[in-house]
Order: sequence, then C-alpha cells, then structure tokens
Amino acid sequence: MKLFHFLLFIFLFFSFVFSPSSSQASLPHQCLDNQTLALLRFKNESFSFPSSSSSKSESWKPDTDCCSWEGIKCDNTTGHVISLDLSWDQLVGDIDSNSSLFKLHSLMRLNLSHNSFHFFNFNSELFGFPQLVNLKHLDLANSGFSGQVPLQMSRLTKLVLWDCSLSGPIDSSISNLHLLSELVLSNNNLSSEVPDVLTNLSSLVLIQLSSCGLHGEFPGEFPQQSALRELSLSCTKFHGKLPESIGNLEFLTNLYLDNCNFSGTLPNSIGNLTALQYLLLDLHNNSFDGITDYSLFTLPSLEDLMLGKNRFHSLPDEGPFTPSSSLSWLDLSENEFQGLIPRMLTVLTSLEILNLSSNKFNGSMDLGIANLTFPQLVSLHLSHNHWLMTDSDDLAFPNLKMLKMRSCNATKFPSFLRNLHNLEALDLSSNGINGQIPNWIWSSSLIGLNLSQNLLTGLDRPLPDASSLQMGALDVHSNKLQGSLPFLSQQIEFLDYSDNNFRSVIPADIGSYLSKAFFFSVSGNDLIGKIPTSICSARNLQVLDLSDNQLNGTIPTCLGNFSSELLVLNLGGNNLQGTMPSSFAETLSTLVFNGNGLEGNVPRSLSTCKGLEVLDLGDNQIHDTFPFWLGNLPQLQVLVLRSNKFYVSASYSYYITVKQKMKGENTTLERILNIFTSINLSNNEFEGKIPKLIGELKSLHVLDLSHNNLDGPIPSSLENLLQLESLDLSHNKLSGEIPQQLVRLTFLSFINLSANELQGSIPSGAQFNTFPAGSYEGNPGLCGFPLPTKCEVSKEALPPIQQQKLELDSTGEFDWTVLLMGYGSGLVAGLSMGYILFWGNGFIAESIATKMQQLRLRSSQQRRS
Ligand SMILES: *[C@@H]1O[C@H](CO)[C@@H](O)[C@H](O)[C@H]1NC(C)=O
Ligand SMILES: *[C@@H]1O[C@H](CO)[C@@H](O)[C@H](O)[C@H]1NC(C)=O
Ligand SMILES: *[C@@H]1O[C@H](CO)[C@@H](O)[C@H](O)[C@H]1NC(C)=O
Ligand SMILES: *[C@@H]1O[C@H](CO)[C@@H](O)[C@H](O)[C@H]1NC(C)=O
Ligand SMILES: *[C@@H]1O[C@H](CO)[C@@H](O)[C@H](O)[C@H]1NC(C)=O
Ligand SMILES: *[C@@H]1O[C@H](CO)[C@@H](O)[C@H](O)[C@H]1NC(C)=O
Ligand SMILES: *[C@@H]1O[C@H](CO)[C@@H](O)[C@H](O)[C@H]1NC(C)=O
Ligand SMILES: *[C@@H]1O[C@H](CO)[C@@H](O)[C@H](O)[C@H]1NC(C)=O
Ligand SMILES: *[C@@H]1O[C@H](CO)[C@@H](O)[C@H](O)[C@H]1NC(C)=O
Ligand SMILES: *[C@@H]1O[C@H](CO)[C@@H](O)[C@H](O)[C@H]1NC(C)=O
Ligand SMILES: *[C@@H]1O[C@H](CO)[C@@H](O)[C@H](O)[C@H]1NC(C)=O
Repeated sequence: MKLFHFLLFIFLFFSFVFSPSSSQASLPHQCLDNQTLALLRFKNESFSFPSSSSSKSESWKPDTDCCSWEGIKCDNTTGHVISLDLSWDQLVGDIDSNSSLFKLHSLMRLNLSHNSFHFFNFNSELFGFPQLVNLKHLDLANSGFSGQVPLQMSRLTKLVLWDCSLSGPIDSSISNLHLLSELVLSNNNLSSEVPDVLTNLSSLVLIQLSSCGLHGEFPGEFPQQSALRELSLSCTKFHGKLPESIGNLEFLTNLYLDNCNFSGTLPNSIGNLTALQYLLLDLHNNSFDGITDYSLFTLPSLEDLMLGKNRFHSLPDEGPFTPSSSLSWLDLSENEFQGLIPRMLTVLTSLEILNLSSNKFNGSMDLGIANLTFPQLVSLHLSHNHWLMTDSDDLAFPNLKMLKMRSCNATKFPSFLRNLHNLEALDLSSNGINGQIPNWIWSSSLIGLNLSQNLLTGLDRPLPDASSLQMGALDVHSNKLQGSLPFLSQQIEFLDYSDNNFRSVIPADIGSYLSKAFFFSVSGNDLIGKIPTSICSARNLQVLDLSDNQLNGTIPTCLGNFSSELLVLNLGGNNLQGTMPSSFAETLSTLVFNGNGLEGNVPRSLSTCKGLEVLDLGDNQIHDTFPFWLGNLPQLQVLVLRSNKFYVSASYSYYITVKQKMKGENTTLERILNIFTSINLSNNEFEGKIPKLIGELKSLHVLDLSHNNLDGPIPSSLENLLQLESLDLSHNKLSGEIPQQLVRLTFLSFINLSANELQGSIPSGAQFNTFPAGSYEGNPGLCGFPLPTKCEVSKEALPPIQQQKLELDSTGEFDWTVLLMGYGSGLVAGLSMGYILFWGNGFIAESIATKMQQLRLRSSQQRRS
C-alpha cells in the first residue's frame, strides 16, 4: 500500500470512529467558550489547509462542542481542552508567540508532529510553550519547529523533537526536566557535547539521540537504579570507551550504539544487562576491537547481537559457559577475523542467522559438526572471505534456507550444497566457478539462484520436470553461457545444432520453467539465435534481461506486453532487427533496446506507460520525427536516443500546443530542469540553432550534440552550466566565435568543437589552457592556443556583452526551445540504468530478507509461548 493510501485509510478510519455524534453523546460537559474561540482562531488565523477533507481540523465548526472535534480531548469535568493532536494533518501555517494555541492553558498533550508550520521567534523568552504550564507531552517531530531545545517546561514527561533541525547546545538547564521520562532528539544538528546531567535524569526511560549531532565522550557514569529501557545513540559522534557503568542499566532492553566512534574492548559489564533484547552494535565508525569475556553471549534475553563493522579479531574461548538460548541473530561481518571460524561459535546452538561475511577467514569452512551445532540455522552468510574450499560433504544444516557465498574464491560448486535439502536462496555470484551448472542444483525448494559473474559455460542435463520447480529469481548474468535461445522452445530443441557444439543453456520450454519467476537475467553471455516466443509464457516476470548477447532476428511481438507486471525489459547490446513491439505493459519502468539494428517508429503505445523512468533506444536505425509526445510521461528521467535518424518535422502546430501547455507549469518545469544531468542527442539529424534555453539546464554534467546539422552560434548561455564536465558539439555547422564566457566552466575537462565553421580566437585561461588542438580541428577560421594560427588583435577585443546582444536578436531557435521544454523529464543519457540487478541491494534480497524476518519472528514467538 502506498503511504498516501495508508494515511487516507487512517483518516477515514478515525473520522468514522470519532464522528461528532458518537462522541458527543458520551461527553457530559461541553467545551468552554473561550476554548472554542481559541481553537477556531488557531485554525482561522494561522493555517492554510490544502483542499483535503481528511484534515482533522475540518471538523472544527463554530456552534458545535469543541470537545467532540477531531484531535481534541477535554477534561470531562471542567471542559478545558487537555489534549490537541494534529499530527500528520497536512497543516501549513504560522505559529508565533501570540498564537491562540497558547491560550489553551490546560493543555497536557500537544502533538503537532508531521506538519509544515512556521514557528516565529521560537527562541524568545516570550515564546508560547512556557505558557502551557500543564504540558506533559510535547511532540514537534518534523513539524517545522527548529531552533533550540525548549527546556523551560518543568512538567514535561515526554519531549519528542525528532527531525526538527534543532541547533545549538543542550545546556545544563536540562536538569530542570526532572520528570522527563522520554527524550527524543534524533535527527537534529545539536553541535554540542551531552551535559553530564543527562545521565542523572533518573526518571528517563527512553533516550533517543541518534543522528542528533552530539559528540564528545559519552558522559561519565550511568547511575545505579536507572529506569532506562531504551538508549539510542546511533550516528552520533561519541567516542572513547563505553563506560563500565553501562552495566548499571538493569532494565535496559534496547541498546543502539551503531555508527558512533566508540573504541576499545567492550565492557564486560554488558553481561549484566540481563533485560537486553536488542544489542545493536552495527558499528561502522566504531572501532571496538575486543571481547574478553563470554558473558555477552549468556544474556538470557538477548536475541540480536550485531557486532559488524568493527575491528574485532577474536572471541573468547568456548570455555565452560551456558550460552543464551534466545540468541538467534549474530552478525560478525566486516571485522578482522582470520583463519578458522572461532570455536566459541559452535556453542551457540540457538542461532538462526549467522553472518561472517567480509572478514579475512582463510581456513576451511569447518563449522564443527554442523548438523549438531546449528540445528536451527536458517541463514548463513559467508561472502567476501577467502575460504579454503574442501570437498567434505560433512557440512549439513538441516534447516538452512539461505546461503550466501558471494566472492568466496570458489572455483567449483561446493559439494556440501547437495546436503542442503531445504535451501530456498543460494548466492554463488562473483566466484571463479567454471564448467556446467550441475542439474542437482535445481532442488524443488529453490526460489532464488544467483550464479552471476562466474565462468559458467552451460547447463547439465537432464533437467528436472519444470512443474517440480518454483524458481522465482534466476540470475546468470556475466558468465560464458553459450548456445541459442531457440533451444528454449521444445519444438526447436530437436533441430540439429550438434555440429556447432552448441549447448542448450536455458531449460527447454523456458515459459514453464519460469512460470513463477519474477526475475530472469542472462545478460552478458554468449547466447546466439532468436528470442523464442515461448518466453512470453513467463507471465509473472518483472525483470527480463537478455542484454549483451548476440541474439538476432526480430523481437517477438508479444514481448512488450507478455507479463502484466513487467517493470524492466532489457534487450540492449544484441543484433536484433526489425521494428519494436507495438504494445507495452503499462507497468514498465525501464525499457532498453540500445545497440541493436532496430528500425521504424518509436511505438506510440509507450505513451500509456506512465511509470516509464528509463527509455534507451540509442544506437539503432530508428527513423521517426522527434517523439515530443514522450514529454508527457511524468516519470521519465533517462532518455537516450543517440545515434538514430530522428528529425524535426516541418509541421509545427503540435509543438506550439506543447509549448503553451508548459507555460502554466513553471514549478514543474523548474524542478524538471534540475533533474537533467546529461543530454546526448548525438548522431541524429537535428538542424537549426542551439537555443539559449540550454543555459537553464543548470545541473548538466554532460552535453553531447555532436554529429547533427546544427548551425548558428554557440550560445553564451552555456556559461551558466557551471557543473558541465564534458561538452561535445563536434561535427555540426556551428559558426561564429566560441563564447569567451565558457572560461567560467571550471569543471570542464573535455571539450570537442571540431569539424564546425567556428571563427575567431579560442578562449584562453583556466581550463582552456589544458585542451588539446584536436578539440578544435576542422574549423579553418579558429586561431590562438593551442592551434598554430595566431589571432589578429581586433578579434580578441570583441566585448562579450555585444556578442550576447547579437544572440538575443537571433531567431530560429523555436523548435529547439520547445524540444527542451516539451521534454521536461527526458533527454538524459548515460546515467544509471535505474535498476540494480544484483542481489546485494536488489529487491530479491529484500523479499528474501522479509521472508527471513517473518520466519525469525515466528520462531521466536513459538519459543516464547
Ligand atoms: C475567521 O476569519 C474571518 C475572515 O478573516 C473572520 O471574518 C472571522 O471572524 C474569523 N473567525 C474567527 C472565529 O476568528
Ligand atoms: C472523566 O475522567 C475521569 C479521569 O480523567 C474518568 O475516570 C471518568 O470516568 C471520566 N468520566 C466520564 C463521564 O467520562
Ligand atoms: C503579539 O501581540 C503584541 C500585542 O498585540 C504585539 O505587540 C506583538 O508584535 C505581537 N507579536 C507578534 C510576533 O506578532
Ligand atoms: C476560560 O474560561 C474559564 C471559565 O470561565 C476560565 O476559568 C479560564 O481561565 C478561561 N481561560 C482563558 C485562557 O481565558
Ligand atoms: C504524536 O502523534 C504521532 C502520530 O500519530 C505518534 O506516533 C506519536 O507517538 C505522538 N507523540 C506522542 C508524544 O504521543
Ligand atoms: C550544523 O551546525 C553547524 C554549526 O552549528 C553548521 O556549521 C552546519 O552547517 C550544520 N549542519 C547542517 C546539516 O545543518
Ligand atoms: C556486573 O559485572 C561486573 C563485571 O563483569 C561484575 O563484577 C559484577 O559482579 C556484575 N554485577 C552484577 C550485579 O551482576
Ligand atoms: C583462491 O583460489 C586460488 C585458486 O583456487 C588459490 O590459489 C588461492 O590461494 C586462493 N586464495 C586464497 C586467499 O585462499
Ligand atoms: C548430518 O546429518 C546427516 C543426516 O541427517 C547424516 O547423514 C550425517 O552423517 C550427519 N553428519 C555429521 C557430520 O554428523
Ligand atoms: C543469427 O545468428 C545465427 C548464428 O550466429 C546465424 O546463423 C543466422 O544466420 C543469424 N540470423 C540472422 C537473421 O541474421
Ligand atoms: C511563471 O514564472 C514567471 C517568472 O518567474 C512568472 O512571472 C509567472 O507568473 C509564472 N507563472 C505561473 C503560472 O506561475
């Protein structure tokens, strides 16, 4: 569900539950007049609402009981408003110290979080909050409040100032807040040290200081008998050793110390934190280096122990100790362990998830008598080590569902994999595995298989029956798979290709093998032949990537629209011919046909793909008018049309419509113009002048208009493209002088103006002293460094101002202007392809992670009950 829908649901739900009639009946006392007035004024004077009927304050109407209004709670004996909750209400408006809000003297709870208020004079003595003498709970998270932490309210028990752009120090007046039980200051910019008194606030139950800018050594000592249950210091800059007194926090259940600068050995007293459930030490930028005592592993309630990203190199001996029976997740990744796996781990029999990735392990993967050691292990992460691969079949994990061995220096399929009968996800990517993919790998439990970036050449036969598989994601990109995709269809498999020693790479009848699959990539192999139509029966695919092979023939017409969930279709870098499919799935977000021999028009049906973000049709033979209509695709961010045969048609009426339409959309346009980072329209048939408007595309890094028929001058407005690193205008018919203003472009490291009709002196100074003569060759009229031709004085003296004027007068840029405006979101080339195929961060990993989490939750619930 989208967040918007979720919120809408919440609003509708609450407006139903707390409809005025129902709550009025249960409240004997009506709101006081002065409270009604204050609330109406607050609504009236300071707010401007978006046209949303779901706003709580929409129910605030004169002549009704304010105690029945949404977001309001009254004291049922006095009729005073005691609680005001306008969180997530899409409110915009000003609040100053005269705001009627501060007339609600009886307020005990005020929740303005997640709105867009503008608070004036927040730091002045007069500012309103201290007037709210009864206030206990104040939540201004993400409300627009900024400035300093308001500390004057001595009755506060809950103070939430999360994501408030607060700045300045927390002074010692924080000790006034001796009733405070919850303090949330996360995501601010408090550039100070924490005053020692913080740890003395004995009523504090929750402290969240994550990403709040606090630094220094964490304050001295944690008091005994502290009530603290949660302490979150993530992403602060605290450094030094963690105080031994942390062991005094006997009620602590959650401890987050990740991304700090703590160092030294972990205090043994952590072993006293018997209530701890989550010890999160996901410490990149911590430098803990030792654990000298195993008491940490005996904590009776500890479930997750995250020790990744530190400098740990050893664990204590396995010794005589009874490990925690609740510990289910241990993360030791990105540390400095080496040699063999620490023996001590083999005692942790309750582990369900073990992550040893990115260390320097270089011994065998011997994990003790694995069967017995980790009977519950569900997920094992061994990637990025240099394991010594043994041929031992002894390793067996009866319940293992996920095994990650990316980049483990394996050259063949580890034989113990055969023992893993329940495996659902296997990642063997980025090893040096060569030869055939063994047929025993296709176990019926397998859902995700990543064999990408190896040296695999083919597929062992016989294959299991397609109906026994439930493959969801198969990634074999960047291997050496040979053979032809026509093998994919059963009928053609009987053709005799044996002379060529081709091997059938993908299971026969790919459609049925991939009938449950959502991801399939064979990109970057040596596949030849046609794309069989049978692939169109893989109706659940979201990603189909056949790019960078040597596939030829035409694209099956069904391929644009075979799956109702298709997000990514990449056929780039093949030898495909003919026209593009004429219909496309409306769900499509990435379509890449780059680098084929495709002809014909850009299919008009793409205009229905409203979610299209990446369209790359570059390096084909497409002959069409420039597809302005693509400018109506609201999400398009990357458009590559380079090296085709696009032209601007003689009929302009359509473009005028586009131009007029764009006029009303200033802000959109502005936003869009800032998205461009790269424009590549090279190798087409564009004519006319380069529009001055191009200088508006201020975020451009790369501009390539080479190999067209452009004429007229180079616009001096290019000087506004301060980010520009690469400018290629070569092989056109540009004339006039090179604008001297281009010297301002200090990031420019590549320029090619060759093969034009430019004249006059080459600009000098800054970057222009570094470009080679080749940048300018083929312009007989140019002179000055680095060319051998010296310039005559008069030409150099032309003042820039005059040149600009001349340009303003020039006409004929009409079509270009429209082109750029109409394109809005497009014209961007060479960026990331908008999707990541690899498991590391792709959605495969995500969906599996979710699944693992569910498994884990389920099993820990079972344990508890
Ligand atoms: C709200 O504002 C309108 C116009 O500014 C004014 O006429 C009306 O009296 C105000 N109502 C209250 C309750 O302040
Ligand atoms: C009034 O509030 C008190 C506590 O605030 C509560 O105990 C009582 O039941 C309420 N009375 C009614 C009629 O809601
Ligand atoms: C608040 O009201 C007082 C008196 O009406 C006025 O002098 C002052 O300027 C107001 N302050 C703000 C911030 O509007
Ligand atoms: C509102 O009216 C009540 C009862 O008349 C009174 O006790 C209270 O002080 C008034 N509040 C304000 C802010 O004027
Ligand atoms: C304020 O409202 C938000 C959203 O409804 C809620 O999550 C938060 O806990 C509230 N704050 C306090 C202090 O109750
Ligand atoms: C945080 O505050 C410091 C000084 O108080 C300031 O230099 C810095 O720019 C601020 N950072 C952000 C992200 O606002
Ligand atoms: C806390 O830990 C320390 C060091 O491990 C130990 O000496 C002490 O006895 C422990 N205290 C309690 C109350 O367990
Ligand atoms: C990686 O594998 C190669 C070949 O199997 C082997 O020579 C090399 O020693 C291995 N590297 C490590 C660090 O084990
Ligand atoms: C592991 O378990 C399997 C069957 O459950 C058994 O055949 C094998 O011998 C066991 N391995 C060890 C090392 O105990
Ligand atoms: C496609 O490639 C195969 C193998 O390279 C070749 O035999 C065949 O003639 C090609 N077909 C076309 C239409 O180019
Ligand atoms: C567009 O921007 C111009 C100049 O910034 C401004 O004069 C014009 O009113 C704006 N049009 C709209 C519809 O916002």
